[in-house]
Amino acid sequence: MTKYSAPGKIILFGEHAVVYGRPALAIPVTQVHVEVDISDSARSGIWIDAPDVNLHAELNTLPSDHPIASVINNLFFLLRVSPFPNLEIKISSTIPVASGLGSGAAVTVALTRALSTHLNHSMNAEEVNVFTYEIEKIHHGTPSGIDNTVVTYARPVYFMKNEPPEMFKVGRPFTMVIADTGISALTKESVGDVRRLWMNDRARWETVFDKIGEISFTARRAIEAGKYELLGELMNENHGLLQKMTVSSPELDELVKAALHAGALGAKLSGGGRGGNMIALVEPEKAEEVSLSLKAAGAKHTIITQVS
Ligand code: MEV
Repeated sequence: MTKYSAPGKIILFGEHAVVYGRPALAIPVTQVHVEVDISDSARSGIWIDAPDVNLHAELNTLPSDHPIASVINNLFFLLRVSPFPNLEIKISSTIPVASGLGSGAAVTVALTRALSTHLNHSMNAEEVNVFTYEIEKIHHGTPSGIDNTVVTYARPVYFMKNEPPEMFKVGRPFTMVIADTGISALTKESVGDVRRLWMNDRARWETVFDKIGEISFTARRAIEAGKYELLGELMNENHGLLQKMTVSSPELDELVKAALHAGALGAKLSGGGRGGNMIALVEPEKAEEVSLSLKAAGAKHTIITQVS
């Protein structure tokens, strides 16, 4: 049996602007993850069991654009696996789907690592990352590549499209509360809407993207220096710019307000927006209180995570 797992992720700064070449920061979230177990099968075919998405099927019965089928078929094509072996693949996940926590990238990374290892075609991290980006492009249109990068390397990253990712140091551990609106939202749609805004008034949105890029740049320095008051202010500023971009929602704004009211140093939506998750930076001793306030304001789940 071959077993691999991959973490969830949150974008700390720079979502959407990163699609237009500005820097963004993301961190892995190990409290949630995807796990893939692969074993040889006595029955013929590739049998997939993914109870979290209610999938129990043989590969050939899935449409070719099915997210899991497209990973297996494209990977086997890349690795020249022929004929296909008989396998049992079990996929379990604690990452909510369409919530901005990178569940799609985590499935691809864990499945790619497990399959390539099981079939003795070992792939290094860069190869897994490049392959996962190709899969993200099939399902998400014009992804920047930040999701696959942070999930593959499972380290905090400072990311710019088409540049090698930079891993950065966290000067002093910090605590985040992640809260889920419970509303699923497709990143592809919010990214498409931002593209329409940009096409209608490029000069205006380029200026907004520049501001967000500066925020990400300053935030990296603030994290490296452990300056968390400043980091909180930068989160609030970034959230304001995301509101202008129309990717927030009343539910996200409500949670941001509740977190700040409960004493968070800063708060913002994280990822594609419109639904999914928001994040709040807190002093460790305030984490529980902020988490309870977020639940009282409508959050379906919260995760407290320490970044170090
Ligand atoms: C999604 O996690 C982040 C976005 O910036 C899209 C992307 O970078 O591909 C919204």
